[in-house]
Amino acid sequence: MGKFPEGFLWGSATASYQVEGGIENNDWAEGARDGRVPTCGRATDHYNRFESDFDIVKSLGQNAHRFSIEWARIEPEEGKFDEEEIEHYIKVLHALKVRGLEPFVTLWHFTLPIWFSKKGGFQNKDAPEMFARYCEYVVSRLGNKAKYWMTMNEPLVWASGGYRTGKWPPFKKNLYYFVTVQSALARSHILAYKRIKKIFPNIQIGIAKHNIHFASNGYWWANIVSGFMNWFWNERFLNRIRGYQDFIGLNHYFYKKFGKKVNLPQTDMGWDIYPEAIYGCLIGLKKYNLPVYVTESGLADAKDDRRANYIKDYISNVEKAIKEGVDVRGYFYWSLLDNYEWAFGFKERFGLVEVDYGTLERKIRPSAFIYKKIAESNVI
Ligand code: FCB
Repeated sequence: MGKFPEGFLWGSATASYQVEGGIENNDWAEGARDGRVPTCGRATDHYNRFESDFDIVKSLGQNAHRFSIEWARIEPEEGKFDEEEIEHYIKVLHALKVRGLEPFVTLWHFTLPIWFSKKGGFQNKDAPEMFARYCEYVVSRLGNKAKYWMTMNEPLVWASGGYRTGKWPPFKKNLYYFVTVQSALARSHILAYKRIKKIFPNIQIGIAKHNIHFASNGYWWANIVSGFMNWFWNERFLNRIRGYQDFIGLNHYFYKKFGKKVNLPQTDMGWDIYPEAIYGCLIGLKKYNLPVYVTESGLADAKDDRRANYIKDYISNVEKAIKEGVDVRGYFYWSLLDNYEWAFGFKERFGLVEVDYGTLERKIRPSAFIYKKIAESNVI
């Protein structure tokens, strides 16, 4: 048994395009029209149902919530900001507040307005300026309503999907682009960070960083590869934005041991379940000396027959890392709801809450009550 620090945040996460529905003016919707990724359509209709969805969050004993703002809604045309959409997110933040849920807001979670992607997206030399202008605008309007902000979600995963594997917009396969676009993202983050701090110095800003626990079987070559990958995938971006983040958001899903085929239980997506991996990732973040929030951790499990243990075991390992001196202050399960899992569409079921895509009815999965117990007691 382990007790979590006083004030620890327990929540679940979503992202705009994956749950809101009705977004047609971003690069993923365009990609779907071109038949290159699945259609998202009305998704879970969270855009209209956020209040009842937040009632569920509250009923599940959580005290925080992570969501993202859709850039294409706020800035549908370059430099033209839509006040009605700002009003929408003011309502979202208000709905969280009255339910006692601490908001964690992501400004950009993978999807880009069509006008921005047409201009080359983050490959455009003015991208940092355009991105920072958007961030600054949103925070100037909403910054007094949320303390924790993330400029971007998983820069390396996004760069990898769009420029290395080519399975995500803009569907390119080019290692040079894959590497250089990461520099543009780091510059974009830093500029946005500076602009936001000018308006609201007390806002806490970070990114959600996807880190993998790389291990080795001890062979010399496996040690080298795992060391290189740890630097390249886990640390390089964080090093670049050093000094321009107030906390680290850790999104964690993967374990990779080089030199050895390990047979582990798996999620519906074939991702290995290895709870010690989150401990490894957290220990790896210790040297940054910053507060850490686990901003995503979860699995696809349609039958809900592995989720409860997954949650318990991963959270036990978070507690172990806290005992070892990592300043972890919150945990957000991915995801609150079943949702649009990018190139995989709606098949994969990550939700604490099941969504019937025919009726849009919500049904709380049994594992959500296990998570509730942990959240309410603050103990694992
Ligand atoms: C992460 C993404 C999130 C979701 C999960 C399963 O990489 O941030 O949107 O798709 O994976």
